[in-house]
Amino acid sequence: MLESLRSVLQLRPIQLNPAERRLRKAANIDDLRTIARRRLPRGAFDYIDGGAEDELSLRRNILAFRRAEFRPRVLRDVADVDPSTTLLGRRLPLPLVLAPTGFTRVASPGGELDAARAAARMKLPFTLSTMATRSIEEVAAVCDGPQWFQVYVWRDRGLVKELLSRAASAGYEAIVVTVDTAVLGRRQRDVRRGFTLPPQVGLGTLLDGLLHPGWTWDLVRSEPITFANVAGSAVRRGSRAVTLAEYINAQFDQALSWRDLDWFRANWDGPIVLKGIQTVADAVLAADAAVEAIALSNHGGRQLDGAPAILELVRPVADAVADRVEIICDGGIRRGSDILKAVALGARACMTGRAFLYGLGAAGQRGAEHALALLDAELRRTMALTGQRCMSELTPDLIAWRDTLTELC
Ligand SMILES: Cc1cc2nc3c(=O)[nH]c(=O)nc-3n(C[C@H](O)[C@H](O)[C@H](O)COP(=O)(O)O)c2cc1C
Repeated sequence: MLESLRSVLQLRPIQLNPAERRLRKAANIDDLRTIARRRLPRGAFDYIDGGAEDELSLRRNILAFRRAEFRPRVLRDVADVDPSTTLLGRRLPLPLVLAPTGFTRVASPGGELDAARAAARMKLPFTLSTMATRSIEEVAAVCDGPQWFQVYVWRDRGLVKELLSRAASAGYEAIVVTVDTAVLGRRQRDVRRGFTLPPQVGLGTLLDGLLHPGWTWDLVRSEPITFANVAGSAVRRGSRAVTLAEYINAQFDQALSWRDLDWFRANWDGPIVLKGIQTVADAVLAADAAVEAIALSNHGGRQLDGAPAILELVRPVADAVADRVEIICDGGIRRGSDILKAVALGARACMTGRAFLYGLGAAGQRGAEHALALLDAELRRTMALTGQRCMSELTPDLIAWRDTLTELC
């Protein structure tokens, strides 16, 4: 009996590192989300996890990937699958870019530094947000992978020009101009929780902080969270806490139009990615404007609620402009198989935001690395199971759309 007990009993070695212990149980991005939800105060988690208004676009971004079903092929020698691709003239090991996310230090003390290091380990581009909590130069100093800089267009063009020139000097390869943020979408979870920048400690947040001592201890020990790139702004000076909506609506240029792209050409020598395209008509205008790439994006469902689910846009946009501009699918990536679906439908690559943020929230840099490794492994496995050897062989007939999502909703 002892013999048979020994044959079935297998004790895992004890893991002393608490972050590694947490990650051992994270089999997918959703598990990382669950761990992040447990570790972060509700206000911080909801800032990351939430979307605008009824969160319809947030949910539909994800559901669109479930509606897309594979038509797998067999007996195709998948001994060596190769998910690498070329994006903006650079070879990438897989078609994935880390999306710009503002205020990332609410997820982990290192914030953008943790995410940039995780991206660099995988040789994937990391996009630093204008609203980042680590500066252009700080990120460049720790990141030896490709870096992109995301631009929000401030009313003060002098400030934007200064940001572009700092990004160029620090070796950033491309800029991502976000065009879906004329005003800030109403993120109701932030409204309800009174989320401000920098975070203000009221009675509710104090209690929340006490219930999440690990996060609070990290916050207290590290330097104050500010918008590290935007010199001279009210928030940078720490003069008073503001809601994100107040801040953005005061600073961003709502008069931005297609004509302004000439200004970017005159002030930036490298490739330009337009992020926030949501119709074929605008994709055509972007191609006419000769930008190098477009990111089909509804800001992860954080801006216009009722915006189209991003995956559903990929094929019509690719049919219209794939020969003139590279297409990035941004929004709803939670599995490596999602990347395969987007590329099969005509995207050159995908961007991901929450997937790596959940990783950061679960276990800092190691958590973000874990998130990227999960997506990589899932992509490779799905390529093998669908009989696809490389990205350039993918065609839209790999995908069929299910009519209804009733059973998934
Ligand atoms: C917490 C958070 C902050 C974000 N901040 C920015 C930002 O500063 N600039 C920007 O262009 N997009 C921002 N986004 C949108 C992301 O770049 C990306 O479009 C979105 O996360 C993609 O959807 P996904 O989270 O489902 O991957 C943010 C998204 C999240 C979740």
